[in-house]
Parts: sequence; C-alpha cells; structure tokens
Amino acid sequence: MNTLHERTRTRIPVDAGSDSGSAGMQGREFAWTDADFGQVQSLIYERAGISLHDGKHAMVYSRLSRRLRDTGHQSFREYLDWLESTDGPEWQEFVNALTTNLTSFFREHHHFESLSELLKSRPRTYHWNVWCSAASTGEEPYSIIMTAVEALGEKANFSLAASDIDSKVLATASQGVYRFESLKSMESSRHHRFFLRGKSENAGMVRVKPEYRQMIDFQMVNLVRDDWPFKETFDVVFCRNVMIYFDGATQRKVLERIHRVMKPGGILFVGHAENFSDSKDLFVLKGKTVYERTR
Ligand SMILES: C[S@@+](CC[C@H](N)C(=O)[O-])C[C@H]1O[C@@H](n2cnc3c(N)ncnc32)[C@H](O)[C@@H]1O
Repeated sequence: MNTLHERTRTRIPVDAGSDSGSAGMQGREFAWTDADFGQVQSLIYERAGISLHDGKHAMVYSRLSRRLRDTGHQSFREYLDWLESTDGPEWQEFVNALTTNLTSFFREHHHFESLSELLKSRPRTYHWNVWCSAASTGEEPYSIIMTAVEALGEKANFSLAASDIDSKVLATASQGVYRFESLKSMESSRHHRFFLRGKSENAGMVRVKPEYRQMIDFQMVNLVRDDWPFKETFDVVFCRNVMIYFDGATQRKVLERIHRVMKPGGILFVGHAENFSDSKDLFVLKGKTVYERTR
C-alpha cells in the first residue's frame, strides 16, 4: 500500500509529468499529467483517507473525466485548481467519483451466521445497537436486518446505523431498490419475506419492504474525520472492505475510534483481506475476520 501520509503537499511542477509517457494525452479527451494524478492522490487522501497507488492512473482519469465534463473544465489542472479554491458541493462529487462501492447481499456469508448466533445468545429483550460503517449501496445493512429479523423476530429490539462517505450510494441504500438478479444467491423464502417485486415498468426490480427499510438509520459518516455523530456505544460494528483503501497509520486511527464507540466485548466484523492482529491492545481475533473489542 502506498504510504501517502508521508507524501508532502508540495505540488510537482506540471511539466514534470509532461504529456509524454504513460500519463500523457495519448488521444485522451483531457490533458492529464503525473502532476495531476499526484494532486488527486493528495486530495483524496486528505478528504477520505484513501491511498490511491500509482497503478490507478487510468482508473482515476476515467472516473474524474465526467466531473470535468459536468463542471465545464477543459483540463485536469484547471478542474483541480478550481476544486482546491472552493469549499462547495463539488468536493462531495469528487469523493463519490473516487470511491469503490463493490458489495453484495450476504457477502462473506459466514459473518451473518456468526451474527445470528450472537443475537440468539442474549435474552430477546436485550437492545442491540449495531453500526454498518461502509454500507455502500445498502446490500450489507439489509443483510444485517434480515439476519436480525430471522434471529430475533419481527419485533426485534434492534437499532442499526448504516453509513458511508459517498452520498450517492447512501441515497441508493436508503431507497432499497435493486435488480432482482442481485438476489440470485439468496434463498427464495427471503425474497418473499423481505422484498416487494416490481410490476410493469418496474419489472425486474425489487424493493425492500418499508418496515425493514425503516429499521435502518442512514447517515453520512467519514471514517477518517473525528466528528462521528453517535451518542450510544455499539455491540457490533461491521467495517468491511474499506480499510484496504487506507494506509497503516490511517487504519490504526480508525480502529482506535471504532474501539471508542464500542462496548467492551463488542464484535467487529472486517473484510476478507483485512488483518488487525497488530492492534491486539484494541481488538483480539475471535474467528475468521471477526474481532472482539478488548474489555
Ligand atoms: C468496497 S465498498 C465495501 C462495501 C461493504 N462494506 C462490503 O463489504 O460489501 C467500500 C465502501 O467504503 C466507502 N468508504 C471509502 N472511504 C470511506 C471513508 N473515509 N469513510 C466512510 N466510508 C468510506 C466507499 O464509499 C464504499 O462504499
């Protein structure tokens, strides 16, 4: 992973990344230099903690080109200088364009089996407070709700906060509308219990039933900002497949903050490629990519 936290904010002169070589024009619509890429790396690191390694040149060009078109800029240099000089809504668009939102229902299925066991291990009256911290388009928080309702019943005493830094995916999540195909790996009993099938012009789509959608409190939370809005501590936190975009120093800071908002003995689910065994003072490994907050 790129150690971008060590990168200075000194701007590389623009002709240092000339239009020759891998980052040159090469028939592209907009001028795009190594210096532009360096500027994007610094800005997204500061805003979202995301470390974009050097192999992401082409991806960044393609994701941000649309922003140049929509804002009427002729080059990356112009767009990025304008962005840095404003404090307006384009920052959110910039962040939205650079996040990777891949997700699916019941992704890493074993976590939902563990969650179900955990929920059944306490009296039905226990109030569960759960946070899904990189919820993307919503498949993950809805999988948590389905698991909770199946384990605890329709009147589950269960609060779920679902958050993301990306306003666009969060809007999709709160609508709860998906293609029917995205349910393909899910048992059909769940289709009937939790979803409504679209008809006529909505054929091929499904919508999460309102009573389940209403069980989730969707909000924007930036994991790398120290302004989390939570008042109560969590029994369970899902923080899956987001820390892989952060460098080691950022991961540690985020882990320390997650530790602060969790109850002692609370359970943290992380992604399949994420390992926090260096932070045993905060979390101890309980199972495959499942950690327990130290007491
Ligand atoms: C690959 S998706 C993972 C979605 C889901 N957790 C899963 O495992 O299927 C990563 C998500 O993290 C979000 N993200 C990236 N940086 C973030 C930050 N600083 N704070 C909060 N969310 C962030 C992205 O917007 C994206 O939706």
